[in-house]
Order: sequence, then structure tokens, then C-alpha cells
Amino acid sequence: MNNTEIVTFFDRLAANWNDCPDEYDRREEIVSLAGFTSGGIVADIGCGRGVMFAHLLKTEPEELIAVDISAEMIKHAKGFFPDPRITYLHADLLKAELPMLDAAIIYNAYPHFLHKQAFVEKLVRHIKKDGFLVIAHGICKEEINGVHDGECVSRISVPLEPAEQEAAKFEPFFTPELLIDNADFYMLKLLRK
Ligand SMILES: C[S@@+](CC[C@H](N)C(=O)[O-])C[C@H]1O[C@@H](n2cnc3c(N)ncnc32)[C@H](O)[C@@H]1O
Repeated sequence: MNNTEIVTFFDRLAANWNDCPDEYDRREEIVSLAGFTSGGIVADIGCGRGVMFAHLLKTEPEELIAVDISAEMIKHAKGFFPDPRITYLHADLLKAELPMLDAAIIYNAYPHFLHKQAFVEKLVRHIKKDGFLVIAHGICKEEINGVHDGECVSRISVPLEPAEQEAAKFEPFFTPELLIDNADFYMLKLLRK
């Protein structure tokens, strides 16, 4: 498995991607629980077509960095949100040139990072002390893992583990502040030490 397979997969889906309008309230809740403060530099990792942008922009970041490895996803996101507060980065997060971040969110994309240690190390380098990382899904872990267990998607994702186990992968650099892993949704807020 390599990134080419991930890029091909998401490039093909981008035009007809489901932006899940029915999960709007859930995304509002996730952003509200995360407690983004205004004026920060915030990254949306694996931003897709930008389902999180409207929610994140309401928190008034100084800059929203939208990162995605799929050129097609980025193209659609730019078309929907030509907003000067958004900096688009068509890149593999693991290789992206990022500034120091006040916060980062990865919504519905964490399972596609197959090498968690590399993901952790990248965010350790780029999230400021006392900044935070949010890993979230608008539905529960069991549903997410169900969606991902088909022949094709299972090649480009790893199942979500219980929130405590995922949080443990970020030790000793991040402290869990909020772990939600219930029948409705899944969310970790991890504070950078
Ligand atoms: C399931 S989609 C979710 C998109 C969006 N967050 C949403 O909820 O609609 C996962 C996204 O992560 C992106 N992605 C996967 N691996 C990535 C990587 N290494 N760096 C940046 N983006 C990546 C994919 O291209 C895809 O757009």
C-alpha cells in the first residue's frame, strides 16, 4: 500500500463526495466541544471538500490551513470556499510544510493514516505547547469501522481503536482532555504538553 492508492481512491470519489449535510449539527457540537479560540492558526487535516470549514471559520481563526493529499478534493474545496482566510495545501500531511499550529482537527480522515507513529511525530513537531489536536468522526467507531471494512477501503485505512487506546499512541507528548467514544460519535481532544 502506498499513497498512490489513497490518492486514486479519493480523487475518483471527490466529484460525488457526500458532504453529510445531515451531520451539520454534530460538526457544530464537535467544534464547540473542542473550544477553538479566535485568532489562532488552525489546520484541517484531510479536509476533503471542506465540510468543516464553515464550522471552523465561525471560531474566527487568523488562518485556516486546509491540507489534503487529493488534488480533486482540494479543487472542489477551493471552488466551494474561495475564502482568503483559508490556505490550501495539496500535500501529504506527513510531508507538508506547516507553520506552528495553535490547533489541528482531523475529521473523518484519521483511519487513513496507516502509520500512526509518523502521524504523531508530525503533529508533535507542528502543534505549539498548550495547543491541541482533535480527532473526530460524526458517527460512532463501530459504524466507521464497518464502512472501512470493505475490500477496497480496508487497504487504505486501519480500524479505529477505543478512544483511550488511540489517545495512548500520543503519549507522552499529548494529554487527553476529552475522550468521547459512544453510540453517537467519536472525538478525542489531546493537549500538547
Ligand atoms: C474520508 S475523507 C474525509 C474528508 C473530509 N474531512 C470529510 O469529512 O468530508 C479522508 C480525506 O483524507 C485525505 N487524506 C488521506 N491521507 C492523507 C494524507 N496522508 N495527507 C493529507 N490528506 C490525506 C483524503 O484525500 C480524503 O480527502
